[in-house]
Amino acid sequence: MARIAYVNGEYLPETEAKVSIFDRGFLFADGVYEVTPVINGKLVDYDPHMERLDRSLSELKMAWPCSKEELTKVHTEIIARNSLTEGIIYMQVTRGVADRMFNFPKDIKSSLVAFPQVMKLVDNPNAKTGVKVVTTPDIRWLRRDIKSIMLLAPVLGKQDAYEKGAAEGWMVEDGYITEGTSSNAYIVIGNKIITRPLSNRIRAGCTRRALFRLAKDHAVEIEERLFTPEEAYKADEAFLTSASQFVMPITEIDGHRIGGGQVGPVVRKLRELFLEEATR
Ligand code: PDD
Repeated sequence: MARIAYVNGEYLPETEAKVSIFDRGFLFADGVYEVTPVINGKLVDYDPHMERLDRSLSELKMAWPCSKEELTKVHTEIIARNSLTEGIIYMQVTRGVADRMFNFPKDIKSSLVAFPQVMKLVDNPNAKTGVKVVTTPDIRWLRRDIKSIMLLAPVLGKQDAYEKGAAEGWMVEDGYITEGTSSNAYIVIGNKIITRPLSNRIRAGCTRRALFRLAKDHAVEIEERLFTPEEAYKADEAFLTSASQFVMPITEIDGHRIGGGQVGPVVRKLRELFLEEATR
């Protein structure tokens, strides 16, 4: 069945959903995006995604494409029209369509597109075994806090990881891990989670935010500080978070087995807690 996508006010079969060659998203990656999970036909953790969208737009001096209520309606309509029970909704806002010029054109109207992707989020088989990651250089720009559609560096990083048989690349800058190519990065020592503090160098993950809340509620300590690949190799456990992976255990980093190559108790518990809340 052809998916139904949303393009600037219209719901269309994916084959008819098209944007202009002059869209600044296409020409300059002049746009931002969000990925929101859906479980049992319901949006998970939607508000933080919209808050982050608001911030990304304002940092780029870009207008909202519609009201917040209309955007929520687009999300719920995409779920309904595609009978989506589990997966994600991808949405992107670009500065809009104008003849090619670097500076912002006057009176431009931002464009909005959205579409669903069916995914197994809850029963993701990787969560049972854990995944492998490899380190890769972080060659991104310095405004990683903005959820920009300019993703060539993460694309190259992820491809590098895939070619090495890993599921994710942990990007390294100045000797420290920043984050995954499309996820946040964590190690666990004892009962303590260690992860990089928020700044312009990483994305403020919505799943990270939910994880912090769950960890605090369940007496799991969090330390926000930088860590190196060498420290990660020796950690008791490691994991990543994102809207499409939730809490995903990592059992190997650069060929070093983590936790004897088994999913550890802290990560297992955190994933369970996350799923319990998301499926409630
Ligand atoms: N990526 N860091 C980066 C660089 C990311 O691209 C993402 C998400 C995250 C985690 O953010 P959240 O928990 O809000 O999903 C961290 C999405 C899933 C993507 O690009 O598909």
